[in-house]
Amino acid sequence: MTIPTPVRIGLIGSGWIGAFHAESLARRIPGAVLAAVADPAPGAAEGVAARCGVDRTFLDAADLIAASDIDGVVIASPAFTHPDLVVAAAEAGKAVFVEKPMALTLEDADRAIAAAAAAGVPLQVGFNRRFSRDFAAAHAAVRTGRIGTPQLLRSLTRDPGLANPSAVKPWTIFLETLIHDFDTLNWFNAGAKAVEVVALADALVAPEYKESGLLDTAVVTVRYDNGAIAVAEASFSAAYGYDVRGEVFGDSGMVTAGDVRATSMRLYDGDGLTADTMRLNVDLFHQAYTDELAAFVEAIRSGAVSGARGEDARAALALALACRASIERGAVVHVGADGRVA
Ligand SMILES: NC(=O)c1ccc[n+]([C@@H]2O[C@H](COP(=O)([O-])OP(=O)(O)OC[C@H]3O[C@@H](n4cnc5c(N)ncnc54)[C@H](O)[C@@H]3O)[C@@H](O)[C@H]2O)c1
Repeated sequence: MTIPTPVRIGLIGSGWIGAFHAESLARRIPGAVLAAVADPAPGAAEGVAARCGVDRTFLDAADLIAASDIDGVVIASPAFTHPDLVVAAAEAGKAVFVEKPMALTLEDADRAIAAAAAAGVPLQVGFNRRFSRDFAAAHAAVRTGRIGTPQLLRSLTRDPGLANPSAVKPWTIFLETLIHDFDTLNWFNAGAKAVEVVALADALVAPEYKESGLLDTAVVTVRYDNGAIAVAEASFSAAYGYDVRGEVFGDSGMVTAGDVRATSMRLYDGDGLTADTMRLNVDLFHQAYTDELAAFVEAIRSGAVSGARGEDARAALALALACRASIERGAVVHVGADGRVA
């Protein structure tokens, strides 16, 4: 495929994160043009497109995918739509960036990976933490042996908002939130495979929704085949703002990443010590969200994906599904080499 300059991207899904990606593609990424926006909600694509100076919108993503002048798509629609859209885009020869989770079942993940491989198009998944400078520096420290052999790993996500608990789907905490932490742990512990998983979860933030399946608080322990043990935790109610941190402890040191502070300002007064914290994920990860799309544009040009690949998204999904099985069985579950729970 001959890639013109600049690369022309179509956005599929213009909700919360799609609108942010639209702004990035339109304004923050040299070498990229936001060429079209698709969203079935009346007026949704038009609103985002107008703010970004784009004049082409579609209600049906299939029409955007069929457009011959679009080189790649950014899929930011709800998770259940991802596999079919990845397959359709790949079959049309488009490079694909898909938000996490890439799929909700391993079968669908395999379908998406196979379609991209068959078409020979790049497939990148939106695990933005890999592009956060502190997480990338921590990963480089582990990769270059600075902390020796990883033994204990930790990753956490504390989301500040549970505005509408009735809209949260039952396994969201694993499939949509902790899946970021699972990718981070797998990436930090590169080359190792998860073999055992145990999850505990509850509705501590909105107990009145527990009956309908909401889990808003969870802790997960993972054992890897290189002996390392990892803990991931999540909450949907961090009163102090978005909080995402990671840590790897090895036999010759430790590396950490993540900081709740919005700035390095510290206020010392009669109330003690005060700092500003981040309220939104698009504040905390502004740079990472932009850089992951810049990397996607680069992948369209080079053919090489530097972010999370489809196989990485499948490995993270396998952990999320193992958590679900662990909760349902109330037990430690064993994960096979194929990612399936035994
Ligand atoms: N990487 C991150 O940090 C991050 C952050 C937020 C959301 N996400 C992911 O992005 C995805 C979207 O989340 P959101 O919070 O923006 O959701 P949202 O509900 O705000 O927006 C989704 C949009 O997709 C549209 N849509 C529905 N079906 C569609 C289809 N078939 N084709 C095109 N558009 C369609 C909806 O009308 C809506 O406008 C989810 O998978 C979510 O997990 C990732």
